[in-house]
Amino acid sequence: MNAIPPKKLFIRTYGCQMNVYDSERMTEALTGAGYEAVDAPEDADLVLLNTCHIREKAAEKVYSELGRIRKLADEKAEQGGTMRVGVTGCVAQAEGEEIVRRQPLVDLVVGPQAYHRLPAMLDALDEGKGAQIVTDFPTEDKFEALPQRARRTSPSAFLSVQEGCDKFCAFCVVPYTRGAEFSRPVVQVIAEAQRLAESGVREVTLLGQNVNAYHGEGKGGTWSLARLIREVAGVEGIDRIRYTTSHPNDMDDDLIAAHAEVQELMPYLHLPVQSGSDRILKAMNRKHTADSYLRLIDRIRATRPDIAMSGDFIVGFPGETDADFDETLALMDAVGYAHAFSFKYSPRPGTPASGAEQVPEAVKEERLARLNEVLRVHQTRFQESCIGRTMPVLFEKVGREPGQLIGRSPYLQPVHAYVPESALQQIVPVRIDAGFPNSLSGTPVGALSSEHA
Ligand code: SAH
Ligand code: SF4
Ligand code: F3S
Repeated sequence: MNAIPPKKLFIRTYGCQMNVYDSERMTEALTGAGYEAVDAPEDADLVLLNTCHIREKAAEKVYSELGRIRKLADEKAEQGGTMRVGVTGCVAQAEGEEIVRRQPLVDLVVGPQAYHRLPAMLDALDEGKGAQIVTDFPTEDKFEALPQRARRTSPSAFLSVQEGCDKFCAFCVVPYTRGAEFSRPVVQVIAEAQRLAESGVREVTLLGQNVNAYHGEGKGGTWSLARLIREVAGVEGIDRIRYTTSHPNDMDDDLIAAHAEVQELMPYLHLPVQSGSDRILKAMNRKHTADSYLRLIDRIRATRPDIAMSGDFIVGFPGETDADFDETLALMDAVGYAHAFSFKYSPRPGTPASGAEQVPEAVKEERLARLNEVLRVHQTRFQESCIGRTMPVLFEKVGREPGQLIGRSPYLQPVHAYVPESALQQIVPVRIDAGFPNSLSGTPVGALSSEHA
């Protein structure tokens, strides 16, 4: 037995699901190196901020949080302890040693491709080697070098299959912070899915910044995302599959067909379009038009009529006029989104659009409010369309009320229902009785079953 008590690790995660996944993998790597995860930064031996650089606000949050952490670190030092502080993720990759210059408290800066090096970097700190900064793209495979997935309690898990992006949309930092597109080999993905399934996971969300561009090495050559999904569907215990985020131009016929043929694939698709104006789409370097996007959605819906669509929108991209914005609203009406995210354009250093003349802030604000109002109407319509339907719900956790559990519908909506705790980690048919802005509530139908409804 190891007599040394574990050190306390606190990780705060910002940004997208890939960062959530990475934080889990870092926790697992550091557990092997003598740490144990805690859920508050006070008194932690190591605090990591896993950061996002996508918009200015996201990046600036990191520095204000570091200011707060500094106070905790000072308190710990007064009591004779040491708090190590690291910045990981996309701000780490984008700003590198500038972070240490701005906040000398930071002693670790690690880009997303180098997380497997964390234990060695901590050893170097112990040896008094000074701040450790790794933002190069190491040649070894981080996923191979990281320890296996730990057992988990949730029936739903993320699984990164692809990283990076080669699309270079004019507004976006991802190609710079996450580097070139890279797909994990099929065997690695399947082994991880099997391991997750063995520890009780029933739903996996395959992740990638551009996940439908997946082109991993597999038996007989390069596999597409559709082929990978079919293989994951064959993993014993995996009943639900999702994937995110996709680019419209990479929705190939096989992937669309999979939505009809693979019963594990959930009828919910996040397919960002960003704008409904062809002029703006061109300036954004999206390489598709509003019409090609709408035709794509028609094909997807012809294949899988009950699919619910989700998207991302940017308002106030440089040059966007009222007429361009009206085209975005028209596209939204044509699609009818079940859910979507909306953002004001935020100029990002080093991206092609950042130097262009900006749309005034007040105009961005006003457009965002109008867009959100349309989204609210669409989302309410979708929520209401679920009332009276019976849908399979995967129950994940206990609810706030006694006797209540919370699960997810096929459309990713949280669903509250009064069901026995034995339904946790099970898929149960639930009749939806009421819809709220961000959730549904319902009643289980028939005997509890672990099978598909
Ligand atoms: N890979 C995904 C999206 C990654 S970023 C895709 O291709 O769609 C998530 C979302 O953030 C984007 O879809 C976009 O809507 C938004 N976003 C990215 N850069 C932004 C910027 N500079 N300003 C505002 N929103 C931005
Ligand atoms: Fe960014 Fe997505 Fe465009 Fe890639 S496809 S540059 S991740 S918005
Ligand atoms: Fe943010 Fe990086 Fe994800 S910039 S959205 S954390 S890929």
